[in-house]
Amino acid sequence: MNAMKPLWTSSQLIAALGVEPDGGDGVAVTGISIDTRTLQAGDLFVALKDQRDGHEFVSTAFKAGAAAALVSTGYTRQPGDGVLFRVSDPLAALVALGRAARARLAPEARVIGVTGSAGKTGTKEMLRTCLSRLGATHASEKSYNNHWGVPLTLARMPEDTRFGVFEIGMNHAGEIRPLTKMVRPHAAIVTTVEAVHLEHFPSVAAIADAKGEIFEGLPQGGAAIIKFDNPHARRLRAIADILGTKPVTFGFDAAADVHASAFRASDDGSDMTINVRDKSYPVHLAMPGRHIAENALAVAAALDAIGVDVEMALAALADLAPPSGRGARSVLQLGGGEALLIDESYNANPASMKAALATLATVPRQKYGRRIAVLGDMLELGSDAPALHAGLKDAVDAAEVDLVFACGPHMQNLYDALPAAKKGGYSPASAMGDILASQLRPGDVVMIKASNGTRLGAVVERLKAQFGKQGAAA
Ligand SMILES: Nc1ncnc2c1ncn2[C@@H]1O[C@H](COP(=O)(O)OP(=O)(O)OP(=O)(O)O)[C@@H](O)[C@H]1O
Ligand SMILES: [Mg+2]
Repeated sequence: MNAMKPLWTSSQLIAALGVEPDGGDGVAVTGISIDTRTLQAGDLFVALKDQRDGHEFVSTAFKAGAAAALVSTGYTRQPGDGVLFRVSDPLAALVALGRAARARLAPEARVIGVTGSAGKTGTKEMLRTCLSRLGATHASEKSYNNHWGVPLTLARMPEDTRFGVFEIGMNHAGEIRPLTKMVRPHAAIVTTVEAVHLEHFPSVAAIADAKGEIFEGLPQGGAAIIKFDNPHARRLRAIADILGTKPVTFGFDAAADVHASAFRASDDGSDMTINVRDKSYPVHLAMPGRHIAENALAVAAALDAIGVDVEMALAALADLAPPSGRGARSVLQLGGGEALLIDESYNANPASMKAALATLATVPRQKYGRRIAVLGDMLELGSDAPALHAGLKDAVDAAEVDLVFACGPHMQNLYDALPAAKKGGYSPASAMGDILASQLRPGDVVMIKASNGTRLGAVVERLKAQFGKQGAAA
């Protein structure tokens, strides 16, 4: 077996953590883990306190093959424990390791930070896909974007990384600032500013300010990438200007610095020309949706800002299919014909609901004649929740949805506002699978969307298990 190149050598660990190991001298690690269920042999296990105290799992980590553990000074060595790094605060030590990882990158390496009210993960994954064509790329796992997710992603970054892509999120003002200062991006994207997580903010403008913190990690002249068509674009521009960074806008408007022309939605994605300064790139996106295309414009802006071959990088987007729960499509075999299932069950807020409904409307009627939306509660909207749910009616109408099935107490506000002809059914998520199984017909397109906590993912799985065609996708 090939020995793996260490992520951190013994001396690098000692230098970054500022402590000598207890219980052995040399120890190199090949990865970083905070969860023994996913730990790989050779990892450094970091005992963090979140829902549970990671110190309870140190023994399990060593049994699973951990090379070392990062624990607090008070931890009592257990039989079977290996090399321990004892620190006053393991989270702070993880941050130190993350900073060391950023500091050791080669000067020509380029780093991009992504925040926004929606589309962070999608945009991060597009950048990962694009940049992987050009060089060694390291990016956040899933939505690891918070006070431990960002330093963990940094600490996992190999020394020879050419491109780093970091998702940075927040629930409160002031949370992005320390994270962007760890990441020190060369280009930073704010995908969009929307009324999400409003319970911790007095206004959407205050959300814009909190997102704008990401620009504080940029160097002077670094690219501050801002959505042109957003009510808070000017606010973000002003923040970027004050910081001495360079605002770059993106959007469908020809006045945006990076803009789309000849946008055309199809049922297998979309096509457009992306115009960056004096260059134009024809691009095919395998992922449908105007909002996804808009994210791709932000990607193009970032690629241009870090000085890579934009055309070669963007070509990768033709092969990037939507992930499960975020727009993945599959064909259902119903007696006598096919229906198309669009799985948006992982995430929902007012902006992404509207975007998903608009995308549903791009599925051609000739192929799928009846449009069905199965909509569940959007969570974490605070006291505006009833109005924001009822307010989806315009988007349902605009998308010419034929039938709506609704789930959850908030979504009842929308359901009640619909005309009888559009009411498919209102029920808990647990019963929705049976209802849909009996109601779906060949020629339907059914889009299922809610916040993950509403549990419509199980409905998607149920439909795929009963009607799914092995390996098929539209
Ligand atoms: N620019 C956009 N505007 C509105 N909705 C979007 C946009 N980009 C993506 N979405 C939709 O928002 C939802 C969430 O996307 P994604 O997971 O990329 O967001 P996120 O910001 O990473 O979310 P989280 O805060 O949960 O990490 C998906 O349904 C996606 O299609
Ligand atoms: Mg995310």
